[in-house]
Amino acid sequence: MSVKLRVNGQAHELEVDPETPLLWVLRDHLGLSGTKYGCGVAQCGACTVHVDGAPRRACVAPIGSLAGRQVTTIEGASGPHAEAVRATWEGLDVPQCGYCQAGQVMSAIALLERVPTPSDQDIDHAMSGNICRCATYVRIRRAIHSAAASIGGQAGQAEASEAEEER
Ligand code: FES
Ligand code: FES
Repeated sequence: MSVKLRVNGQAHELEVDPETPLLWVLRDHLGLSGTKYGCGVAQCGACTVHVDGAPRRACVAPIGSLAGRQVTTIEGASGPHAEAVRATWEGLDVPQCGYCQAGQVMSAIALLERVPTPSDQDIDHAMSGNICRCATYVRIRRAIHSAAASIGGQAGQAEASEAEEER
């Protein structure tokens, strides 16, 4: 059966068993190896991608259920939230072994797109499905707060310069 979907803005038509998990289509058919396999049963978050902008566990998402949907992987994550998260992740040196981090970053971006200034509780709730064996949780939380502040700061600057121009 062929399935049509868009991945990182590119259209694909794939001849695969509709039960094939998205994770294997990304890694084996499309060569997008940034999305990781951890548990295979939606328990660790290593395989988190966005489907139509919302976080989704690729290891348990049958490709047949994604016809016509927009999939974004770590390789294609873009826009101000993704940029801010990448910058703070790097600035605060969040990763340790790195294995879980693509999933962490994708969950963090989705959180900030939904909740611009998340509380510790919002962060803990949104990130609770992303396990890190290296226990980088404290740095992750700090990086999300920092990304939120930098996006808020940029928005504030943009508003101020717009107001300045209107004067
Ligand atoms: S590999 Fe998908 S949640 Fe663990
Ligand atoms: S950085 Fe090693 S598992 Fe998270």
